[in-house]
Amino acid sequence: YKIRGTPDREDQRMRRKDGQPMLKGKTVVLAVSGSIAAYKIASLASALGKLHADVQVLMTQNATNFINPITFETLTGNKCLVDTFDRNFQYSVEHVALAKRADVVLVAPASANVIGKIANGIADDMLTTTVMACKCKKIISPAMNTQMFENPIVQDNLKKLEHYGYEVIQPAVGLLACKDVGKGKMPEPETLLEYILQEVAYEKDLKGKKILVTAGPTQEPIDPVRYLTNHSSGKMGYAIAKVCSMRGAEVTLVSGKTAIKPPLFVDVVPVTTAREMYEAVTGRSDRQDIVIKAAAVADYRPKTISEQKVKKTDGELSIEMERTDDILKYLGEHKRANQFLCGFSMETEHMLENSRKKLKKKNLDMIVANNVKVEGAGFAGDTNIVTLITGDDETQLPLLSKEETAVEIMNKILEQTEKQL
Ligand code: CTP
Repeated sequence: YKIRGTPDREDQRMRRKDGQPMLKGKTVVLAVSGSIAAYKIASLASALGKLHADVQVLMTQNATNFINPITFETLTGNKCLVDTFDRNFQYSVEHVALAKRADVVLVAPASANVIGKIANGIADDMLTTTVMACKCKKIISPAMNTQMFENPIVQDNLKKLEHYGYEVIQPAVGLLACKDVGKGKMPEPETLLEYILQEVAYEKDLKGKKILVTAGPTQEPIDPVRYLTNHSSGKMGYAIAKVCSMRGAEVTLVSGKTAIKPPLFVDVVPVTTAREMYEAVTGRSDRQDIVIKAAAVADYRPKTISEQKVKKTDGELSIEMERTDDILKYLGEHKRANQFLCGFSMETEHMLENSRKKLKKKNLDMIVANNVKVEGAGFAGDTNIVTLITGDDETQLPLLSKEETAVEIMNKILEQTEKQL
């Protein structure tokens, strides 16, 4: 199980604003109850450890039937806490100390029994007493048979937990341990990790900001079978959207077709053509504090789209092309007061000069310039090398992961918007 990217750089790929590994200094409590999905929490504990979190695992007695506490102890380096009255440890005191230190608690898998106990204030073991004592954000991931999950008592308990500020992750639909197919599956560890990161990975310094990001390529149809496009993978735009969301912003991502899984806490608007992107962006831009255009938009499209498949002939074929709308230029011309506009500039030569021209011509506050021909920069990979150009400043960033680049872009935008105030 990998978080992202290549394994050897995994823990260095995700860094916070201050350059520290993402979860350094954060205490993540994983509360595991008795369900077959308990074994999947081992991957989550491991992934959190790689991000330098202090991972503390609590288990109900029943959970130990599904996975051995030693697995968690090996993965986290911490004693796995099971029984409040274990004579070797001062748990009754320790659980309060742990509750005070916790930055986030994830109860996963959460059985109907544990949900019922927490919702009704019953604290009779290590897990429930600790969860009860925690003041931080608590996330619950129910996992059980569909009929149990749909039982109105369980549903009432979940509503009650939500009422008290717990976040409930809706179970996935799938094949359950009882061989039924239905709702009740714990989501994959990757998804659980997203919930934890959303809560604790970053300081919420973009809270209250509305940010629109565009990503990916556009596709311009020629006929029902063919289209014109470019090599954009969407990775840079998606990384920006995710970082903004983890830093507390309300994010809309207008995305061309990509192979990337839509991020969880972002409003994704899928589009295909430059025209659709234009409509989606201009219809929403007025409400945005910041617009970041990382998409690779086609500058030209076939003038007519053939209704039928174009058949080959012996001779050559030329396609007449017309200009698409320059979305960013439009945004620059219609910029509302205090709105920050950031464009991207993909060049193969004269990068700085051409990018500075685009900054001026499109009335932008910042442009992120990169040269596709430089190794480590550009479309497909997980890294980028960019220069951030504003009206009065140029910052050349080193080779960074796209997430790290996204963090730096947002740091610069914040610094610039603070200057504008
Ligand atoms: N852009 C846009 N609409 C277009 C073309 C580009 O909004 N029809 C945006 C891109 O999203 C990017 C910026 O403009 O943020 C620069 O894109 P780029 O392709 O580098 O530059 P162009 O302005 O298209 O100029 P050229 O192709 O001549 O380099």
